[in-house]
Amino acid sequence: MTPVAADIKERLFNIRELPTIPVLHNRILKLMDGGNYSLDDLSNLIERDQVLSGKVLKLVNSPFYGLYSRVASVGKAIVLIGSNPVRGIILSTSLFDIADEKLPGLWDHSYCCSVVSGFLANRFNMKDIGEIMTAALLHDIGKVLIRKQLPEESAEIDKTVQSRGISVMDAEKMIINVTHDAVGSWIAGQWNFPPIINDIIAYHHKPGLCGTYPKEAAIVHLSDIIVKGIGVSASMDRAVPLFDEQGWKNLALPEDELMDILSEVLDIIEAEPAFSQYLSKEKR
Ligand SMILES: [Fe+2]
Ligand SMILES: [Fe+2]
Repeated sequence: MTPVAADIKERLFNIRELPTIPVLHNRILKLMDGGNYSLDDLSNLIERDQVLSGKVLKLVNSPFYGLYSRVASVGKAIVLIGSNPVRGIILSTSLFDIADEKLPGLWDHSYCCSVVSGFLANRFNMKDIGEIMTAALLHDIGKVLIRKQLPEESAEIDKTVQSRGISVMDAEKMIINVTHDAVGSWIAGQWNFPPIINDIIAYHHKPGLCGTYPKEAAIVHLSDIIVKGIGVSASMDRAVPLFDEQGWKNLALPEDELMDILSEVLDIIEAEPAFSQYLSKEKR
């Protein structure tokens, strides 16, 4: 791979251009970083932001958690989902605000991947389920920065995707010679994400190359493929990636179990109203 052109690098990786985290979000993250906080302190701060509260409640009420009654309190939601998914929601919110206009559907795709990754992580008895769900929520965050920092090249990427019928990832390689997994990993580094989240983002398209968290990265990779396969994807990025061979081996999933998993995942996704628009589109 030829080196990334200096001006692309400069515009993309200029740290001053990285979206800043709003003051309130920063306060919440600092409180969580300190480790010594009460549930009331945390939920009171989150409740001050309607968008954050809405996303936390949406996640806890998603079919993945399989709760019998609806949770309406942020405090109760935090107890149920744990602090890491909350952290992921906070960190992603400021970037996804930009994403909504530039990459419609990316939030739904990421949220769906997070729910499916949580299900798979549970199924594979993984211990870091919260971190895996957070990484899944953020796995395509690099696409958002590319859209924001390189609007002209992004338009070129979209055109190439359409005219050649290739994936966004391949078009990124052609046009800017850097891909969103690498950009996402850079953001993860700048925002001091834990290594597991950084690695999953960096290797979500090639989990077989991930040294420390290969199974975790393969889970998010598989979720990405399943979610795209059923049509929950950003409007410009509908190509379903091929499964990474080594990643598949690392998962060690018997093929007959895959069919069971797929049907359970489909049940979960069908039960979530936010995804119905994508599913009905696929059926049309
Ligand atoms: Fe991706
Ligand atoms: Fe994705």
